Formats: sequence, structure tokens, C-alpha cells
Amino acid sequence: TRPLRILGIETSCDETAASIVVRHEDGRGEIISDVVLSQLEEHSAFGGVVPEIAARAHVEALDGLIEEALSRAGIKLSDVDAVAATAGPGLIGGLLVGLMTGKAIAMSANKPLYAVNHLEGHALTARLTDGLGFPYLMLLVSGGHTQLVLVKGVGDYERWGTTIDDALGEAFDKTAKLLGLPYPGGPAVEKAARTGDATRFDFPRPLVGEARLDFSFSGLKTAVRQAATAIQPLTEQDIADICASFQRAISRTLKDRIGRGLARFRERSPALSEPSLVVAGGVAANQVIRSTLQDLCNEHRFAFIAPPLNLCTDNAAMIAWAGLERMAAGLPADPISVAPRSRWP
Ligand code: KG4
Ligand code: ZN
Repeated sequence: TRPLRILGIETSCDETAASIVVRHEDGRGEIISDVVLSQLEEHSAFGGVVPEIAARAHVEALDGLIEEALSRAGIKLSDVDAVAATAGPGLIGGLLVGLMTGKAIAMSANKPLYAVNHLEGHALTARLTDGLGFPYLMLLVSGGHTQLVLVKGVGDYERWGTTIDDALGEAFDKTAKLLGLPYPGGPAVEKAARTGDATRFDFPRPLVGEARLDFSFSGLKTAVRQAATAIQPLTEQDIADICASFQRAISRTLKDRIGRGLARFRERSPALSEPSLVVAGGVAANQVIRSTLQDLCNEHRFAFIAPPLNLCTDNAAMIAWAGLERMAAGLPADPISVAPRSRWP
């Protein structure tokens, strides 16, 4: 086999991204160019992502970003072997923009099109960055998703746990909003928590102790609201204490939930001497959560794999790589009639 080169496009949420990735003959992946434009500023005044604004911003930015990705890689469109675009899950307006652009390029340049599941992009990133072999466990914690997934092969996944209400990043964002902290909430809550007393509030830790591996964060948010309304006005120290206590509750929840997942993986695959837990999604930036997961992995003798942050958050290199993985596995390309799917487990 010869090296394969692909253009990746990502537009499922509030990042517009394009990337050129190569898969070498030995299976190693290499990111040749990776451009991401965040729409954070467009949305911050609204305290969250506004779908219509997002879709319009994707339309405006995408062509230029694709040109930028090609020129940084020093190639032309005709030099790529295929095109991969996110087809879901996500905001339908943005998905339409990215997938239609991918289709137009694939049709005009006569290249195969891969309609990629965004979650599969996150799931396979550790193979691009760390050359990881199957199987492994992946924890995806972002603004839209909280999932523990067994990654068995390309296109072969078992979802072991998911949130039954809010995503973890969403819990951070809502907590920040309640406390008057800026959007996005995760970094603001983490920063405030640094000077806080994590033992001041004993927030709930839903589902802890249960055998199933799901998550729930809405009760925690309600408890934060009750604590915040009981103290008025809130001082800076109160806010810091609430944030620190919030993170401690999450940390303990993850310890229980993920700990069970690691034990289950060990049971199912006793032959693997050092299995891996991979983390993905924007919440993976959180140092408290990172060190909780690191400790847990040490305890269970798992390797803890955290790809560089720019590849944990939304990007097009992971979409390109997912397309390359499908090509290399001999899986078929998608027909040009493929439709975007806002929901796609
Ligand atoms: O993966 P991501 O960039 O976008 C998607 O949701 O697809 O994740 C964004 C989420 C937001 O909810 C944000 O508040 C959260 O990740 N986040 C954090 C931190 N940085 C970002 N949560 C906790 N601690 C952080 N340091
Ligand atoms: Zn994502």
C-alpha cells in the first residue's frame, strides 16, 4: 500500500476546521496541516452556542479554511485521495454546511467521500497520536457528550455508559452561569476552584455505587443552585468554595463510574497486561479531572492516554483520520446522497 492523503472537514458545533492527514504505509498517521477557527466570540454574549449563528459562521469560514489547510500542506485538491466530512451528531445547520462542501469537492475532484461520525473521530484519535492498538476504553467528556466507550475496532464500538441528563461540560457551563462566571464555564469554574474549600459543601454524587456505568449531573447542578441561592449575596470566596466542592463531587463520581469500567475491562480482557484508558473532549483540559483519571489508572494498572488538548477538543484532523482508518480497513465510501444526522449514536 502507498501513503493515503485525505482532507478532513469538521463543522458539527462551534468550531470550523479543515485538515490534511496522511496515513503512511506502516499505518502511522501524520497531521500535515490542521486549521481550526473557534466561534467562541460569536456565541459568548449568548452564554451558549446559537445554532443559526454557528451555521452562518461555518458558511463564511469554511472555504478559506480548506484553502489554508491545503496551502499549509503545499498541495492542491487534486492531490488528496479522499474527502472526509463530519455527518453527525451535531447541529444540523453546521453539519449541512460541512457535508455539502465535502460532497461538492468529492464530486468535482472525483474522490471518494467518507461521511464521518464525530464521536468516531474522537474515539480513534489516540491511534493517530499514540499508535494505540485495539481494544481500549475511551472516555469522552465534552459540552455535548459524556460517554464511556469500548473501542474494539474501526466501526466496532460498545457504549458502556452515557449521561442520562446533562453532559459533563454542560454541568460546568450551567454551574458557571448560576454563579455569574463567564462562558465557557469549564475554565472559569476550574480557575475559581483553585482558591476554594472543596469540603465546604457536600454535593450529591448521583449513581455512585450502581452497577451500570451511566452518569447523571443534573442533580448536582440543582444542588449548586440551592447552595448559591441560600447564600446571598455570594462573595468571591463562596463562589470559589462552591466551584471546588462541585469539582470534588465530579471527581468522586468519575472515580466510582470509571473505576467500575476499568474493572469490567480487566475482567473481559485478562490477557492484556497494560490496557489503556483514553480521554477526549474539552473537559479533559481540567487538571482536577485529569489527575483523578491518572490516579485511577495507576491504581488499576491502566495506561492513561490524554492526546494533546487541541486534538481532544473539536478538530478536523480526527475526522480526516477516521476516514483514513475506514479506507485502510477496506470499508466502503459513502454515496453522494448520504444525509447529515443531528442524532447519531
Ligand atoms: O470538546 P469541546 O471543546 O466542545 C464540544 O462540546 O464539542 O468541549 C467544550 C466543553 C465546554 O462545556 C467547556 O466548559 C468544557 O468543555 N471545558 C472544561 C474545561 N475547559 C473546557 N470543563 C472543565 N474544565 C476545563 N478546564
Ligand atoms: Zn466533539
